[in-house]
Amino acid sequence: MKTRLNYVWGYALAVLFCACGNTNDTGKSADTNVASQQGLNPDIERKVDSLLSLMTLEEKIGQMNQYTGFWEVTGPTPSEGNQALKYEHLKKGWVGSMLNVTGAKEVTALQKIAVEETRLGIPLIIGFDVVHGYKTVSPIPLGEAASWDLEAIQRSAEVAAKEAAASGINWTFAPMVDISRDARWGRVMEGAGEDPFLGSKIATARVQGFQGNDLSSNSTIAACAKHFAAYGFPESGKDYNTADLGTSTLYNVVLPPFKAANDAGARTFMNSFNELNGIPATGDSFLQRQILKGDWNFNGFVVSDWGSIGEMIAHGYAKDGKVAAKIAANAGSDMDMESHLYVEHLSQLVKDGAVKEAYIDDATRRILRVKYELGLFEDPYKYSNETNEANVVGSTEIQEAVLDMAKKSIVLLKNEKQLLPLQKEGLNIAVIGALANDKTSPLGNWRLGAKNGTAVSLLEGLQAYEGNTITYVQGPNFVENDIAFSRQLEFNTSKKGLEEAVSAAKNADVVLMALGEHAMQTGEGRSQANIEMDPLQQELLEAVYNANSNVVLVLSNGRPLAINWANENIPAILETWHLGTQSGNAIAQVLYGDYNPSGKLPMTFPRSVGQVPIYYNHKSSGRPNEPSPGEVFWSHYTDESNTPLYPFGYGLSYTSFEYNNLQVSNIGKNRATISVTVTNTGAYSGKEVVQLYIQDIFASVTRPVKELKGFEMVPLESGASKTVTFSLTEKELGFYDNQGKYIVEPGGFKVFVGGSSTTDLESKFTIN
Ligand code: NOJ
Repeated sequence: MKTRLNYVWGYALAVLFCACGNTNDTGKSADTNVASQQGLNPDIERKVDSLLSLMTLEEKIGQMNQYTGFWEVTGPTPSEGNQALKYEHLKKGWVGSMLNVTGAKEVTALQKIAVEETRLGIPLIIGFDVVHGYKTVSPIPLGEAASWDLEAIQRSAEVAAKEAAASGINWTFAPMVDISRDARWGRVMEGAGEDPFLGSKIATARVQGFQGNDLSSNSTIAACAKHFAAYGFPESGKDYNTADLGTSTLYNVVLPPFKAANDAGARTFMNSFNELNGIPATGDSFLQRQILKGDWNFNGFVVSDWGSIGEMIAHGYAKDGKVAAKIAANAGSDMDMESHLYVEHLSQLVKDGAVKEAYIDDATRRILRVKYELGLFEDPYKYSNETNEANVVGSTEIQEAVLDMAKKSIVLLKNEKQLLPLQKEGLNIAVIGALANDKTSPLGNWRLGAKNGTAVSLLEGLQAYEGNTITYVQGPNFVENDIAFSRQLEFNTSKKGLEEAVSAAKNADVVLMALGEHAMQTGEGRSQANIEMDPLQQELLEAVYNANSNVVLVLSNGRPLAINWANENIPAILETWHLGTQSGNAIAQVLYGDYNPSGKLPMTFPRSVGQVPIYYNHKSSGRPNEPSPGEVFWSHYTDESNTPLYPFGYGLSYTSFEYNNLQVSNIGKNRATISVTVTNTGAYSGKEVVQLYIQDIFASVTRPVKELKGFEMVPLESGASKTVTFSLTEKELGFYDNQGKYIVEPGGFKVFVGGSSTTDLESKFTIN
């Protein structure tokens, strides 16, 4: 009781203090004007200031300290010994946030310590990796991106927030907005692919989905744009590795989705493990103070990545933990996730004059601001009501949203011999592959909140259609299924089951082969030097195909795969990613044509790992074309084509679309209007993602051969047409120069419109 009183006392004092703030001659407090100008809520700013004035240096530093829960980790395991210390710190008010604590009951217990047992009773902000859903899981983000459906993506984030918020979580470490061009990097599954334009739109949709219009609502949570910055450009595709890139790529490719997230109001950012051009991002004041908090006016807070402050020692940038804490705080990292170095050293660093107290105040202010915005001061337990949790988690509304998202994320890569859609009656279907009966792998990599075994398997989805005869044969299982988040997968080599699979194929009309990657082959720490299917699955695929060529390959994977043999031989290929809780239902609906696939690849599929990084919006080089057949002096490989296996923006439908009448009009200063007519020329109704690309032909800094600058999802009945119009303005026609300045240069542009980045329907215009 005494401690609860402390909270009330502290809070009352804070309110009282605000009421007596300085006023100017307009009657408003001086701070009110500044706050309003910066788009902040003056009321919250007053409360933050007054609470701050009550806090000791140690309590402020406490707000900057984040610990993981004691039973679940998402980084290298902390030593046993520090658990007792964490409790002690919690009670002293030296912890501002916890991650990896979930469930209304657990969060309430923890929050009670912060609210009732600390001097000022400041509530904790509870963070968790709600990356593609919490307990009910959506497709992996790369899969969602393949939908190009911003409404569905926003809705997916919205229901994820609702479910997580009902379980005590009020802050997600998402969206991950790292652009990546490297399929070796395991974390491509977690982003929106290779394109900054699509990535920015998706970043906006996800932030809006998580945060909604009112952060203090019980169903919304704070978003976190991560990993700031260039984490998606690790050398050799190896996680955590060095990023070294020039200003043009930094400003035009890496930063735009972060800027979009900030413009959409993302309340937090996470910095990254990598160094960028020699400076670890965690200690980089150019990124955090100059760009994010300066140029972009970001007024939320920055959290470090797990232990990344301490990792500056291994980077060779800080000689010890104390120096690391100093560098990170000075560089603008507001909260320390699990390196324990702020709580250990910051107080002394301030006393020594090595870190300005103003920086501590600024960081604390940012963190308190977000807590106020979340409504945690009004009711610290608002996110952890067990009855609400029971009603919301796994609800029909959420299941429906993730099913919708899952269908829309599927990409049809090939469809010959008219194998798809499957007829609904009279077929003998052999279903082969361990992934077909797997109820866990579809949950994807970031499934920490979900229970293993809760996805609808492909087999279950197919069994819901009763008109055909299904024979399931697992065949050789290529991996051990159940694997902890932090452990490496082990691959099996036993061919047990191969013959059974082949004989099932012989007796079938159609064979559905569920192959690709286990979910734990991608994600954090899961980079691969090879991006082909593992040899055992490849052997199975070839053996089955030789027995019966009517094969539909149902691919599950978290990264682009180099599946050349399959592309050459297998008549139908469906890209299904790791589709989440409703996976089997979504895939079955697409296989049977109850949903006509509409997804388009958000990332290029290479023919060979040697082509990586391969991306559609590359530069031309001085020697882009073969001068004469057989001549070597041009930019190419002597043993591989320059073209990808499947390009960015590619994806088929059960129907077909034709484009014509491309027109450019309304050309003026920094503007042009583009229109095109798209017609559904096939037998099914379907949706087409109409894509618009430009090329700035000559510029003071070279521009890519193509850049996506618009897209629209167009539903069309068979035989119907629609004219789609895009406006190009200075937002689309310009670029960042090598000083980071946004400019639009007069001159010629090419414009391309179609159903993928390789469209050859093009026109030209010139702006003055
Ligand atoms: C490390 C990952 O890089 C980051 O994305 C994640 O949010 C944290 N661990 C917390 O789990």
